Amino acid sequence: MAVMFGRRVVVLMVFFWGLSSLVWVSGARLASSSKQNLQVQKHLNRLNKSPVKTIQSPDGDIIDCVHIYHQPAFDHPFLKNHTIQMSPDYHPEGLFGGSKVVAKPKERTNPIKQLWHQNGKCPEGTIPIRRTKEDDVLRASSIKRYGRKKHRSIPKPRSADPDLVNESGHQADIGFVCFIDEQHAIAYVEGDKYYGAKATINVWEPKIQQPNEFSLSQIWVLGGSFGEDLNSIEAGWQVSPDLYGDNNTRLFTYWTSDAYQATGCYNLLCSGFIQINSEIAMGASISPISGYRSSQYDISILVWKDPKEGNWWMQFGNDYVLGYWPSFLFSYLTDSASMIEWGGEVVNSEPDGQHTSTQMGSGHFPEEGFGKASYFRNVQVVDESNNLKAPKDLGTFTEQSNCYDVQLGNNGDWGHFFYYGGPGRNQNCP
Ligand SMILES: *[C@@H]1O[C@H](CO)[C@@H](O)[C@H](O)[C@H]1NC(C)=O
Ligand SMILES: *[C@@H]1O[C@H](CO)[C@@H](O)[C@H](O)[C@H]1NC(C)=O
Repeated sequence: MAVMFGRRVVVLMVFFWGLSSLVWVSGARLASSSKQNLQVQKHLNRLNKSPVKTIQSPDGDIIDCVHIYHQPAFDHPFLKNHTIQMSPDYHPEGLFGGSKVVAKPKERTNPIKQLWHQNGKCPEGTIPIRRTKEDDVLRASSIKRYGRKKHRSIPKPRSADPDLVNESGHQADIGFVCFIDEQHAIAYVEGDKYYGAKATINVWEPKIQQPNEFSLSQIWVLGGSFGEDLNSIEAGWQVSPDLYGDNNTRLFTYWTSDAYQATGCYNLLCSGFIQINSEIAMGASISPISGYRSSQYDISILVWKDPKEGNWWMQFGNDYVLGYWPSFLFSYLTDSASMIEWGGEVVNSEPDGQHTSTQMGSGHFPEEGFGKASYFRNVQVVDESNNLKAPKDLGTFTEQSNCYDVQLGNNGDWGHFFYYGGPGRNQNCP
């Protein structure tokens, strides 16, 4: 979720979406009944399109190669007649930008692929989609919430807390209000119009204390204020046991045009994102990952707006243009982004009344530096002329620097960079 400054505690709300979910109990699985079974099957049939080919990944995932015009985006009524744009009209250029410009890192780093590549490729004209299994849906608090952020952070003025329910303006939808700490360690820019963002992020496998928590490292492209209609495009890597059923590090995207309420989802779990790439699967495990005092592996992520069609594109590494979010999905982002954030987010559910020991990044503090701490390097924004350039006035933010911290740097090879992360619970973060 997007970060709201100045508040340590973010209020999260769980919405009930119909009578069936009134039985929601924290961490509980949906009670099994034949009616629910039927609903789950129906949902799976909607999500999983019939594949041209199927690839079994070593991590247990099934990757379906689905005809490009049968992907979930085409369930959207506005996309019924859509002709897929097979490449962007414009591609941002600039410092560290082109595929030929190899920024020689001061230390050795390595590019990464996805685990399922070991067992095959998707044919041309298809896209790889991670198959949703029954267990995936059953782990969700309700079928409707599967693939979406469970909670919704409510941006608030810094003062008073009293009437949270009221402020949301959605009293009727609210099942209960709970307080969950979301912890961030990020760098950000605001105060201008932004048309995209890029960074190279090294990849780790942070330990998650409880399945209902997650740890992620991502770019946020944000439009609007932190209100009901916040627009957000997010991409990076995450470990999320609830969403994927394991502790693997996975490539992911998220989008919303109404502050995580009714629109948007992870990956291709709803109609929205149109994928064109046949080699990279959203939500699939990335491998290998970086080791402490060992080899470092990183991924580059670029999100930018095509000035001609207005769509928001995403590129993974220097070679894989994954696809685009059509402009009509958004309100503010139809024009430009007003803020960009880069960094980590952890859900702290305060198990045992103490701070979670869920790690962010490598689980080590930024002071430890290369080979030990997690980094974002060559941090850049896209300007209105479609050029990649250094962000002006990069700020940093963290709720509790004793738990997770962030430290900026700047040099010739890495441009603007930062180390971030931490172990969560420790002597200074009880
Ligand atoms: C799609 O095309 C059909 C036939 O041309 C037309 O009737 C329909 O309105 C179009 N739908 C959309 C959403 O544009
Ligand atoms: C994920 O990691 C936690 C501890 O960090 C462990 O308790 C749990 O069993 C792991 N889950 C899976 C599916 O491997």
